[in-house]
Amino acid sequence: MKGIILAGGSGTRLHPLTIAVSKQLLPVFDKPMIYYPLSVLMLADIREILIISNPNDQPSFEKLLGDGAELGCEISYASQDQPNGIAEAFLIAEDFIGNDSVALILGDNIFYGSGFGALLRSHLEPSGAVVFASRVHDPERYGVIEFDENQKVISLEEKPVNPKSNFAVPGLYFYDNQVVSIAKSLAPSSRGELEITSVNNEYLQRNELTVGVFDRGIAWLDAGTFESLNQASTFVKVIEERQGTKIGCIEEVAFYRKFIDEEQFKRLANKYAKSGYGDYLSDLLLRKSPHPTTRPHK
Ligand code: G1P
Repeated sequence: MKGIILAGGSGTRLHPLTIAVSKQLLPVFDKPMIYYPLSVLMLADIREILIISNPNDQPSFEKLLGDGAELGCEISYASQDQPNGIAEAFLIAEDFIGNDSVALILGDNIFYGSGFGALLRSHLEPSGAVVFASRVHDPERYGVIEFDENQKVISLEEKPVNPKSNFAVPGLYFYDNQVVSIAKSLAPSSRGELEITSVNNEYLQRNELTVGVFDRGIAWLDAGTFESLNQASTFVKVIEERQGTKIGCIEEVAFYRKFIDEEQFKRLANKYAKSGYGDYLSDLLLRKSPHPTTRPHK
């Protein structure tokens, strides 16, 4: 399965923070925002990843992540010249996707929770589409799912003025190869975008949409406004400092999912010795009894 991180847009809701720096490179506590969605794809064992950004920001992403080889991944880059909508990613990525299935994650979405990696790995290579639903108090900001009493999906609406439920669709989607032709058939919405909700509605009509509902133990944050960016940083800081375990640590995930061996991992740890980030990585090798869910995967 291939993976796409959509890190486009001009971040206007974060101006002036995002005039000279891409939103997805801003810090969320101790690492750049894009580490979080990248770590999610890696947790799903997806190693071929395309990062789509606006053309000006592409060199910065390349400087940060290179070709991904250090992480045991293959990272490539493409640009979205105009903010034409999330579903345009599948048109830009058509050659990259080829005949495979594909996961898409938005570059400002952050996920954390027990069993989250295993949940992702249970949805690889879907037949149709798999999206998720997460309870929020402000559903009108998102794509919203309405369920009937048997948890069957009735409707999907993008930013409805009167939401039919409190379940929002997070920016993490798994699709089979039909997604490319579906994206090609879309017309722009009233806000002039190719909507991801239209893609999901098409799968719903084909009766090929699966929705995984997050239980309350899975946290979903976005980081597109001053408030939510600050909340995300605080959330990560509190968990990391209390537990001594990092969230969104791509080097850790690469090692524990066995994308890289101990020697490669040590080289990464040495790179960051001065900031303390590297000390955390080195320390992982010394831990006598890591938590079972973060123990190197057999
Ligand atoms: C986008 C999608 C929306 C989804 C949200 C998740 O919204 O259009 O359906 O719920 O991402 O973050 P946008 O980021 O364009 O406001």
